[in-house]
Amino acid sequence: MKRKQIVAGNWKMNMNFDEGRDLAISIVRKLGPLKNEVILCPPFIHLNYLSVISKDIANLHIGAQNCHQKDKGAYTGEIAASMLKSVGCSYVILGHSERRQYFGEDGALLAAKVDTALANNLKPIFCVGEKLDAREAGKQEKVVEKQLKSGLFHLGETQFSNVVLAYEPVWAIGTGKTASPEQAQDMHQFIRKLVAQKYSVNIAEGTSILYGGSVKPANAKAIFSQADVDGGLIGGAALKAADFVSIINSFPQA
Ligand code: PGA
Repeated sequence: MKRKQIVAGNWKMNMNFDEGRDLAISIVRKLGPLKNEVILCPPFIHLNYLSVISKDIANLHIGAQNCHQKDKGAYTGEIAASMLKSVGCSYVILGHSERRQYFGEDGALLAAKVDTALANNLKPIFCVGEKLDAREAGKQEKVVEKQLKSGLFHLGETQFSNVVLAYEPVWAIGTGKTASPEQAQDMHQFIRKLVAQKYSVNIAEGTSILYGGSVKPANAKAIFSQADVDGGLIGGAALKAADFVSIINSFPQA
């Protein structure tokens, strides 16, 4: 089974409505026919507009950057997975290191969010990744294994097959430092091995694992050409249409 190659753009908390509309239009204009999947993950206010303009473009999808773990109710300021679905989202980023770090999201909370997302037919893009001190102490695999076990590995096989994984070393996010292609490959291979042990080799071979952390047009090709890297989760470079589209076009030709 050939797994999906994906480039997702995480706009984070950037772009007011007009800026976001212009960016999305500019990306769409530059895209050729898409061989791989592309996911735009803007702030909530853009989701409706983006899903309207991407509706008829094959392989272009919309994702959110977060959702609440409960279905609905008195949770002022929060967004439910069913609401995201209702404006055309197919994906939701969960477990991003900024959510873990600034909003205290831990494994138990993320497991609940993953369940709610899946119950509403949203595919989680589940992020894992170690901080610099863990990398320097050689503990990166331990950290990632723990994040996978606490947030995801309670899922059954069918549910898990709807999850996309993203390895994002925290020390590489927004810092201009990228993991080397070899560091990315090593961790992706390790993650795939864990998935194979927990589920099956078949499931592991079908799971897309994206790399994230300072991916740019200049380094995307080298990273995407690694055997276990199935694409990227792009932050800063997703805010520039030309850079983002160049990254989308960085997969090695089959
Ligand atoms: P970056 O962000 O590309 O700006 O490093 C990646 C991410 O946080 O998803």
